[in-house]
Amino acid sequence: MTVEFVKVANAADIPLGAARVFTAFDTELAICNVEGEYYAIADLCTHDGGPLGEGELVDNQIECPRHGARFDVITGKALCLPAILPVPTYKVELRGDEIWVAAQATASGAR
Ligand code: FES
Repeated sequence: MTVEFVKVANAADIPLGAARVFTAFDTELAICNVEGEYYAIADLCTHDGGPLGEGELVDNQIECPRHGARFDVITGKALCLPAILPVPTYKVELRGDEIWVAAQATASGAR
């Protein structure tokens, strides 16, 4: 089945080394700019629903502002407690200056 992509943002909306939150297909997404590459994760910490997109992004790791769990924004993997489960990731396509995101999470993220 072909996965539908949806335009979510313009690349210029997301500064280098930062994350910004957008809503698309009824999902809050945190789009992360890691050295000019864009990655999309659910804006929902798997520990207790913290707003991941408001966390600090360092390289490819984002820290939940609520209790400090860190996730790899490329694979979704939880890197430290208190989170254990991976956060959903979404495929991103850069089309010109536009960021398009798959309307379906990549299978459950890496474990
Ligand atoms: S809600 Fe994210 S670490 Fe607790």
